[in-house]
Amino acid sequence: MLWAVRSVPGLGRGGTVLRWLRGRVCRRSTLIFILLWLVSWLSLSGLLFVHRSMFSDLCTDDKSRRILQRVCEEYQQGVLTGDLCEDLCVGGHVEYKRCLYYENGKKVMAASWRGLPVVLKSKLENFSSYEALALLEYQDGAGGTGGEEELSPLDVVFYATLEIKNSLGLEAETNLSLPRFWSQRLKEREQPYTRAELASLWALLQQEEYTFLRVMQDLTDHVAKVLGSCGHFYAVEYLAAGHAWDQNIFSIDDFSQSPQDGPGRTLMEVDMVPRVALSFLDMVGHFENDFSHHLHLCDIKPENFAIRKDMTVAAIDVDMAFFEPKMQDILEQNCTNDNDCNFFDCISKCDTKRNKCGSRRQNSNLQVICEKIFRSWFSPTLLGDKAERPLQLELQQAVQDCVETEGGEEVERARAIRLKLQGLLTQLIQEELVNHQSQKQARETHRVHTALNF
Ligand SMILES: Nc1ncnc2c1ncn2[C@@H]1O[C@H](COP(=O)(O)OP(=O)(O)O)[C@@H](O)[C@H]1O
Ligand SMILES: *[C@@H]1O[C@H](CO)[C@@H](O)[C@H](O)[C@H]1NC(C)=O
Ligand SMILES: *[C@@H]1O[C@H](CO)[C@@H](O)[C@H](O)[C@H]1NC(C)=O
Ligand SMILES: *[C@@H]1O[C@H](CO)[C@@H](O)[C@H](O)[C@H]1NC(C)=O
Repeated sequence: MLWAVRSVPGLGRGGTVLRWLRGRVCRRSTLIFILLWLVSWLSLSGLLFVHRSMFSDLCTDDKSRRILQRVCEEYQQGVLTGDLCEDLCVGGHVEYKRCLYYENGKKVMAASWRGLPVVLKSKLENFSSYEALALLEYQDGAGGTGGEEELSPLDVVFYATLEIKNSLGLEAETNLSLPRFWSQRLKEREQPYTRAELASLWALLQQEEYTFLRVMQDLTDHVAKVLGSCGHFYAVEYLAAGHAWDQNIFSIDDFSQSPQDGPGRTLMEVDMVPRVALSFLDMVGHFENDFSHHLHLCDIKPENFAIRKDMTVAAIDVDMAFFEPKMQDILEQNCTNDNDCNFFDCISKCDTKRNKCGSRRQNSNLQVICEKIFRSWFSPTLLGDKAERPLQLELQQAVQDCVETEGGEEVERARAIRLKLQGLLTQLIQEELVNHQSQKQARETHRVHTALNF
């Protein structure tokens, strides 16, 4: 390095050649590096593909249609029911599109419900694979098809609430309120529940994801909306999920038709990143304060979040979302050092005297989001020439502070950092707005000029 810089006069040409050579070598090795990386990436994804197709049930349209057909047969036999069944099985208002994911029995498919894109989900393929409601079997055992005592709607609410608390890891004492509309609908029923209704409710409640989403529906916008169900399948709104390979952005292509990067880029696209980031911060605030227990997200990556058209962020994979009591349960492990206390993105510290992990999480949702999502969004390499703008520099610093601040104990500091990020992002959106308008103006004056020249 030093040697090349200190090139003595007279050696000037040599210095240039050297620099040129070094450039070549540099580019060569970068090229080789990229090639190597590409080859290993390709072979890895090839392996993964083989692994997937060998060990998971292959997802074919044929199979999906057969699964849905079985649901409808059982609906017609009166085994199961739901508000989606009529449209799915009789009216033909639910159109199967394609499968999204078939693994370990879980079925996820894209469909269109009266023109609205939805995702149909079930943890297991068959309705019969879910545990039946024990009370129904008890009634069967007690015999007498006519004179059996029926469950009152209030009983149903009671049992459902128990089941939900159990599934979410909440103590029996916590007075969890069921989603308002849901429990009202359950309670205000005049006639008793039919077998099919109870069986369907029970199949749904055995799916932690459904239970979680259903409970969160009226409490926050930041989870996917549950739109309906038929038997063990439930429909959630279709959202644009983030991509692992495209760290920059959620694919907004799903929504917008305008060409990327052209002069006609819409305002939405221009300031998409700060808007989505703001929604992430809003989500963090909600999950910290809005429920009776803090909600921890232990698997934070772009694929597990999605955005709506209005740029709100929603969690779509909530398998690793836990309320505080369950989080503490999970974290309290035997340990010999801190490494034993990492549960995916949720970590605590090892108390070496007791050889037990602390039950309180040390890092926070915000910290992990800053580290795994924001850092790459606002990194200098990705922003290019924009990165030097003062606001961007400040934002990079704030994100770095956020990554370095543990949220577990320094609650106040974490809050301050969140507010700081919020302020900077809002400013950034305003700045983009002004830029966009002045560019538009410039284009328009340009057009006027050419018109005058003519
Ligand atoms: N609401 C949704 N909108 C669009 N795609 C979705 C939605 N929910 C799930 N998906 C897609 O289906 C895939 C698997 O769903 P998910 O529930 O995350 O399964 P798992 O929990 O087993 O990872 C996701 O990677 C995502 O691409
Ligand atoms: C679901 O039911 C069908 C037909 O009854 C059966 O062929 C299939 O093996 C079942 N699948 C599972 C996973 O139990
Ligand atoms: C929750 O239960 C406590 C007593 O256990 C009670 O004082 C409180 O009002 C309840 N809260 C709600 C929202 O029902
Ligand atoms: C944890 O340690 C305690 C005592 O040191 C022991 O009794 C217990 O079995 C251990 N638990 C596990 C899961 O290893």
